[in-house]
Amino acid sequence: MPKVSLDRIFTSKRLCVREIEVPGGQDRSRIPAIDRSYVFPLPFLNQVLLYLACPLHDCLYVSGPSGCGKTTMALQVAARLGWGVEQLTLCGKSESADLIGHAALRRGELVYEYGPLVRAMRQGEILILNEIDLMPPSDLAALNDVLEGKPLVITQNCGELVVPAPGFRVIATANTKGLGDAMGFYSGARVLNQAFLDRFRFVEIGYPDARTETAIVSTACPGLDEELAANLVRLAGELRHAGSDQNGAALSAPFSTRVLLRIASLKHACPHLPVHRAIETGYSLRLPDTEREYVARLCADIFGNDGQDGFGAMGKSAPRHGRNGDGGDGEAGDGTEARDDAEAQDGTQECAGQDDEARPQGAEAAQQDGQGEDVAQD
Ligand SMILES: Nc1ncnc2c1ncn2[C@@H]1O[C@H](COP(=O)(O)OP(=O)(O)OP(=O)(O)O)[C@@H](O)[C@H]1O
Ligand SMILES: [Mg+2]
Repeated sequence: MPKVSLDRIFTSKRLCVREIEVPGGQDRSRIPAIDRSYVFPLPFLNQVLLYLACPLHDCLYVSGPSGCGKTTMALQVAARLGWGVEQLTLCGKSESADLIGHAALRRGELVYEYGPLVRAMRQGEILILNEIDLMPPSDLAALNDVLEGKPLVITQNCGELVVPAPGFRVIATANTKGLGDAMGFYSGARVLNQAFLDRFRFVEIGYPDARTETAIVSTACPGLDEELAANLVRLAGELRHAGSDQNGAALSAPFSTRVLLRIASLKHACPHLPVHRAIETGYSLRLPDTEREYVARLCADIFGNDGQDGFGAMGKSAPRHGRNGDGGDGEAGDGTEARDDAEAQDGTQECAGQDDEARPQGAEAAQQDGQGEDVAQD
């Protein structure tokens, strides 16, 4: 397998692995597309590179909260290295046959159709198994031998033997570590079999730090107002710690990097959209009323209320932050009326049919103007 210099690809001198053997002759269509707006958080990148360079008959289990970048990291590392990927997102009804393959009738003939596991083993690709903690552990046990580097015997196909090519790797991602869902966020997450988990090296990641998330936002949304970006990152940080110090009750929905980018992208694509409205549609409307009220108050503290943003649009839960700053009379900032009123006046309607020239370019711009350089930062 040809060796590739990682310092050059990831433009960092702090990588724990300097070069890596990448399997040659990969099917180009299996190599993920490079996303120039992706920012590589260094500690996480180092763990993934270490695994790819030195698998030592292990697989890699990446756990972390929803939307923190687990899947994207695996895909973007593969993209930069030119390593083919087979990807599957598992669920409660997934079976070993979804991974290995199954017999199928094709033009009147019974043929065996290979699944992503077999394709990845043969081609020396990275098999990314998303949401592995949702799949029944008894079905996952069928993978035990393969996960420690042994050949696969396909009993349903006359005992066919599949020997893994040198580049074969397995990266599983999940919101839990296979111990069930302690938070109550990730319904359907199962307690996995410890013998199965024993085949994995573990990496636990959280949301990127403020510096990295600021870089993620500014790379994905070039030209977005810096203060706004910094405030959105601050909001993310504060909401992630909400409740955890006092009564221990976290918010019902995580404020993920995905959510942060959604809100920033909304503001980027539609600058006249009030930030409160972007936060509401991007995140807080999915929360129970009391939590929405908390988010609304925090937003008012961070972003203020310039009279145009129509804080009444955040709903009945935050009357004291009504657009007129009148402290709320119980009616002024609440309910649908206030929402419609705010919508009519706060400029939201202007976003529809906006000129192209008024609309910033998005991630493509980063690609074209070089702002989206590969960045590994801690
Ligand atoms: N470091 C990063 N740079 C750029 N974008 C990022 C980064 N981390 C996360 N994102 C973006 O955040 C979103 C969520 O990332 P991703 O789907 O990888 O999260 P995940 O941890 O796999 O979530 P889930 O547990 O829900 O599957 C994606 O749009 C991704 O592009
Ligand atoms: Mg994922």
